[in-house]
Amino acid sequence: MSANRSENIIMAVPKGRILDELVPLMKKAKIIPEKAFFDTKDRRLLFSSNISWLKIIRVRSFDVATFVAFGGADIGVAGLDVLKEFNYPELYMPIDLKIGTCHLSIAELKNYNKDDNIQLKIATKYPNITNSYFANKGINVNCIKINGAMEIAPNLEMADKIVDLVSSGKTLLANDLVEIENILNVTSHLVINRTAFKTRSKNIRDIMVFFREALNEKNN
Ligand code: PRP
Repeated sequence: MSANRSENIIMAVPKGRILDELVPLMKKAKIIPEKAFFDTKDRRLLFSSNISWLKIIRVRSFDVATFVAFGGADIGVAGLDVLKEFNYPELYMPIDLKIGTCHLSIAELKNYNKDDNIQLKIATKYPNITNSYFANKGINVNCIKINGAMEIAPNLEMADKIVDLVSSGKTLLANDLVEIENILNVTSHLVINRTAFKTRSKNIRDIMVFFREALNEKNN
């Protein structure tokens, strides 16, 4: 299938656990992806939907903001963690979809007893958020960027602390870590490329209305 950029609105949605919450919300918004979209073994990345001009791409949650910011997609669903980490000026985020609720926290080993005056090594997928959080406190930290499994880094003596998403808290608990501070409450937002919003306003506004109506329905 061709993306046909001039005629279609491309929506980037995240793979993984957010999809379990996003798909029912999309259904309420009357946006139904084609069947193949639900088949995780299907290697295609571009899918059609029940709306003739709306195509859907399924990408890593960390990449949604980048696809939309660089115009590969016109709209997308991205977590506030990712939006703050990249902080793309090209993105407009008009609707909090109130799904994917979790928070970004600093955590350390239960028995952590080092002096915090040393330069802290922090394992995280969020070096920008982490650096600016500690810089605001006047603390200079050394971020070690890893893309997953950071919960094991303190145990391996590779980092003093981690900054990562916490949902149920089970991953921290299973790795002998305790949360010491919540630095960002996270939910997923509808994000829009500002240029696309100007040039394809009618279709994008329709999608916004569909999601707003779905959210009102959800709240009633
Ligand atoms: C996320 C996050 C934590 C975990 C937290 O990882 O990075 O590792 O979930 O969830 P919990 O508090 O419910 O245990 P995810 O499983 O999405 O995989 P990832 O490491 O690939 O990001």
